[in-house]
Amino acid sequence: MEIIKNVKEMQKKASQAKKQGKKICFVPTMGFFHEGHITLMREGRKLADILAISIFVNPTQFSQGEDLDVYPRDLKGDIEKIKDIGVDWVFAPSASEMYPEGFQSYVIVEKVTRNLCGKFRPGHFRGVATICLKLFNIIKPDLAVFGEKDFQQLVTIKQMVKDLNLDLKVIGIPTVREKDGLAMSSRNIYLTPNERKKALAIFRSLKEANEMFKKGERKAIPIIKHVREILEKENGISIDYVQICDINTIEDIDKIDKKALLAVAVRIGSARLIDNIILGRD
Ligand code: PAF
Repeated sequence: MEIIKNVKEMQKKASQAKKQGKKICFVPTMGFFHEGHITLMREGRKLADILAISIFVNPTQFSQGEDLDVYPRDLKGDIEKIKDIGVDWVFAPSASEMYPEGFQSYVIVEKVTRNLCGKFRPGHFRGVATICLKLFNIIKPDLAVFGEKDFQQLVTIKQMVKDLNLDLKVIGIPTVREKDGLAMSSRNIYLTPNERKKALAIFRSLKEANEMFKKGERKAIPIIKHVREILEKENGISIDYVQICDINTIEDIDKIDKKALLAVAVRIGSARLIDNIILGRD
């Protein structure tokens, strides 16, 4: 496993590998690994000759007042956690390496970023799309693997890849959960034990919504109402959104006549947590 911090060096390595006909799979991350990240890497490992990952807490995807300064970082611990996975390259640049003075080009993916988190985190998806395009240009992957927990992010990246004719395949991997159902997230570290208990209401509400759907409910409003009721019963959960959307356009839908995204974002203490399920998938 090689740790590379310099853009030019990373680009050179990637170019050489491509010249040798090697297939590269890439897992972008912001580090502070949990089993969700490890799952993405294990899946990625199966798909290509070279597995590259990045560890970079990307400042441009944090809005004003968000947790950029306190976002958990542990490069040494992360490297230790992945030593048996078969990662070939860890690209871990500094912020000034990725955004040198004078930087001024950004990618805006328009429609799919307007709803859900796009409403609550101004500039977030502009930052995500920009860093992902930069990382794709540096690492030159044939495949890139993203988690479905950030479903809107996955759709945004797929849209960018399509619109900008990037020669790579984007793969989504289902959300990895703790035994009690909490979706794995680096931000779970912000939860106190009591807040963590409250957070279980998120997956409970999604499961109940799925039951309603399985029993035949096809209208969005009653399902959303039920999810909100479960979340609102927990003192200390404040809801950003509970919405049902088209899985490709991320626009709200009223009637669920094909697979649909039920997405939730809440704030508990200092943590903002998101989760989702696909209604009609199983
Ligand atoms: O999902 C994340 O961890 C980040 O948004 C990503 C894709 C690494 C871009 O910074």
